[in-house]
Amino acid sequence: MAKVIVRFENGDPERVIEVDLRRAPFQHDGRPGSILDVLLANGVPLEHACGGSCACTTCHVVVKKGFDHLSEAEENEEDLLDKAPGLTPTSRLGCQAVIEDDDAVIEVLVPRYTINQISGSHG
Ligand code: FES
Repeated sequence: MAKVIVRFENGDPERVIEVDLRRAPFQHDGRPGSILDVLLANGVPLEHACGGSCACTTCHVVVKKGFDHLSEAEENEEDLLDKAPGLTPTSRLGCQAVIEDDDAVIEVLVPRYTINQISGSHG
């Protein structure tokens, strides 16, 4: 069983998910066994505006642990990530980052990036 720890920058409670990767895909959005796949199947909300087909940046997560246990990012993903608000060196698109190790421990932070973008003058 792989373990996925999900933290939310907006203060939502942390979630810990244990997952048997051999049973992927768990639902229909994103790559089978991807972070998005695992999260959605366990009722954890992660935006996925393009339906998990590597065409937006809304599924951006920051990988805090277990980065090496994820599939490598392809060029397409890197290009999109370049446009993601709050990009970090361990950022991934949740729908593309497949958990490759069945005993991996992955910790991801779901960023709250809309706040700063929308902020302006508060009346
Ligand atoms: S859901 Fe659009 S790129 Fe992942």
